[in-house]
Amino acid sequence: MTEPAVLSLPEPAPEERPVLVVDFGGQYSQLIARRVREARVYSELVPHTISADAVRARRPLALVLSGGPASVYADGAPRMDPALYELGIPMLGICYGMQLMALDRGGRVERTDTAEFGRADLRAERESDLFTGLPDEQVGWMSHRDSVTAPPEGARVVASSGAAPISAFEDPAARLYGVQFHPEVVHTEYGQDVLKNFLYRVAEAPPAWTAAAVIEEETARIRAQVGSERVLCALSGGVDSAVAALLAYKAIGDQLTCVFVDHGFMRKDEAEQVVETFGGHFHVPLVHVDARERFLARLAGVSDPEEKRRRIGEEFIRVFEEEAGKLGAVRYLVQGTLYSDVIESGGGSGEGVAATIKSHHNVGGLPEEMDLELVEPLRMLFKDEVRRVGEELGMPEKMVWRQPFPGPGLAIRIIGEVTEERLAILREADAVVQDEIRRAGLYRELWQSFAVLPAIRSVGVQGDERTYAYPIVIRAVTSDDAMTADWARLPYDVLETISGRIINEIPGVNRVALDISSKPPATIEWE
Ligand code: XMP
Repeated sequence: MTEPAVLSLPEPAPEERPVLVVDFGGQYSQLIARRVREARVYSELVPHTISADAVRARRPLALVLSGGPASVYADGAPRMDPALYELGIPMLGICYGMQLMALDRGGRVERTDTAEFGRADLRAERESDLFTGLPDEQVGWMSHRDSVTAPPEGARVVASSGAAPISAFEDPAARLYGVQFHPEVVHTEYGQDVLKNFLYRVAEAPPAWTAAAVIEEETARIRAQVGSERVLCALSGGVDSAVAALLAYKAIGDQLTCVFVDHGFMRKDEAEQVVETFGGHFHVPLVHVDARERFLARLAGVSDPEEKRRRIGEEFIRVFEEEAGKLGAVRYLVQGTLYSDVIESGGGSGEGVAATIKSHHNVGGLPEEMDLELVEPLRMLFKDEVRRVGEELGMPEKMVWRQPFPGPGLAIRIIGEVTEERLAILREADAVVQDEIRRAGLYRELWQSFAVLPAIRSVGVQGDERTYAYPIVIRAVTSDDAMTADWARLPYDVLETISGRIINEIPGVNRVALDISSKPPATIEWE
């Protein structure tokens, strides 16, 4: 006798039951969403102006109210739809969000004498939902002037600090939770654990948001969007376009054609790696355009950085259009737009960012007049999630963890005119920097590390001969987002090896210098 097959209902996809971060304009709102996702629960940012109906329609597992710069009593301080409290959805208020909750639900918020900025010693109650399993003494990171002086009606206080006797409250019956400190920042010792307690224990959110789940959902979505139409994708060699392309390929196979325009300004062996990985390993239909000569010709005699960028961008579009034209009717274009691009192009941070979310056309400035509809499989993902998806799809480690690299590539790291000779020098010098940085195990720690070729020469002596040759500048920075950066304190022995190798191995170079400027006032790139 055979056992009857047990049929289980399909689990809802993680995206169908999100945790919504209600944005009150705090500097960490995006970070909260990222932390929730790190707990493997799908999360999105929504503006504080969102209506209770719109929230209900999203069927969220929980709401997290972000911090914000305002005082809840200030004129025009951001509020939210009071009907949100009636939905019975678990809510966690952070900083401003906590204070708003207290104000709305019969508690009290006051400007006390003791503002708190930075580290605070918390005494937490272990017999609580938020602090279960955590030590009763812990460090929280605070940033507030106002304080909650009475919790919402029915809520009890579960953590306190010297300056904020009400550092956390909870009301399990009403499903309302608030913390004055910022669980999302790394300085809060058990911040991620507090978030997990809220997500797993209170909201009962399953940790189902994994790279595998993303791949499944996004490939299904791509199929639904494009049907049996032809789809195009421009590969740049960067991780975003690569992961977007692989997702599309997994979804629709040979309906996809990737176009890789080799402008000749990539790093040593990178163009070959793209061709090998996509064409050779993954068997993605790939048009590889060797346009190196065309691009060099377009840059002849040009030394102005912006003019270089403009010409490269223009030429890129021209080549891409020519190739696309050869493919016949194509209706869709895959782009590697990320969630952070989407949020940023929404603008108006104080407004609640997601209010004006719009599509962000950010890949190589592709032509609008080609009239292609966009397929953006990464538009809900943060960069680290894109990398995880890339790993899950089997992309080589080198590609998944590649440092950011500018579209115009080495052309804007050669100061002055780009010639074949100077390009060859920089490419080799840059390869030495990459090689040694990787060998020293520093590659992933650094935001970017590369070589720059200035437009000067200096005197040296090699053997018995006087030389008059180029210097190479080493540029290595740490950064979180490229908006600010610090020069990396590379170990002397690594610098020594790099310098020795560059000068000995590369004819035309007789000196190596190190760029020790932070951004601002310098920029990361030299052009
Ligand atoms: P800067 O030099 O302004 O660079 O500090 C900040 C970040 O942007 C990258 N960058 C570019 N990326 N096209 C790009 O795609 C460009 O023209 C470009 N210029 C700079 C730079 O590498 C750094 O990560």
